Amino acid sequence: MYNKIQTTTDFIRSKTDFTPQIGIVLGSGLGNLGNQIEIVLSIPYSDIPNFPVSTVKGHQGRLIFGILGEKKVVAMQGRFHFYEGYNMQEVSFPIRIMIALGIELLVLSNAAGGMNPDFKVGDIMIINDHINLFPDNPLMGANDERLGPRFPDMSEVYDKKLVNLAMQIATEHQLKIHQGVYVGTSGPAFETPAEYRYFRIIGGDTVGMSTVPEAMVARHAGIPCFAASIVTDLGIAGLVETVSHEEVLEAAQNAEPQLTYIITELFKRI
Ligand code: HPA
Repeated sequence: MYNKIQTTTDFIRSKTDFTPQIGIVLGSGLGNLGNQIEIVLSIPYSDIPNFPVSTVKGHQGRLIFGILGEKKVVAMQGRFHFYEGYNMQEVSFPIRIMIALGIELLVLSNAAGGMNPDFKVGDIMIINDHINLFPDNPLMGANDERLGPRFPDMSEVYDKKLVNLAMQIATEHQLKIHQGVYVGTSGPAFETPAEYRYFRIIGGDTVGMSTVPEAMVARHAGIPCFAASIVTDLGIAGLVETVSHEEVLEAAQNAEPQLTYIITELFKRI
């Protein structure tokens, strides 16, 4: 793993000496947040040694270097999911690269189902904690101390100060946003009504198929995270409806400007 990280980082370093402060992962339907970035360089995943290639509709698959909210950022336009058949190390490999490039904060976004009865389609939830229900873990296997400790602390995966700052920004601009717990599952099937009920009972507010492996790898390396869900469908008793990938993408795209605003404003203030 360490050598693979070196090879990939050396390749990127041969293209640019840009040193990003913040890493961003643009989730389903949120790829356009990438259009707000003043691009310095963009590299298709297919050109990057050791990078998997994304297979899901709505994921363009490139690494973007540029400026957003006055900060130097590296953004993944398109991410890798466990349900695509990649293992957890592959899913989280790009995060290791961002860390090797020098990021000091990881920002993650996702489209998610909402279980909290206060939530509506199109709402934004800042993630303040997660529950890992993936059947695997990216930190499994022999631990390389150069990357992080054997038993990493997960007591504050999502930086509390940033959660509070984002909530404050939303209040100042009369944007109604939530904060809560994201449940990470493998997918690819959406949940049955009983599964949504179960995720609610164990303390979840949203559920999705990403974010958790990436956040865990960042915390392994001691990097703080900031993450947000866009609620694209509801898993609330009596409101569970048939959901399609197209509807998820559409709902995410509609809510995207608000989330883009919050993230850009957050970057200006940190
Ligand atoms: N469940 C899991 N993942 C999702 C959902 C959902 O309801 N919506 C968008 N991603």
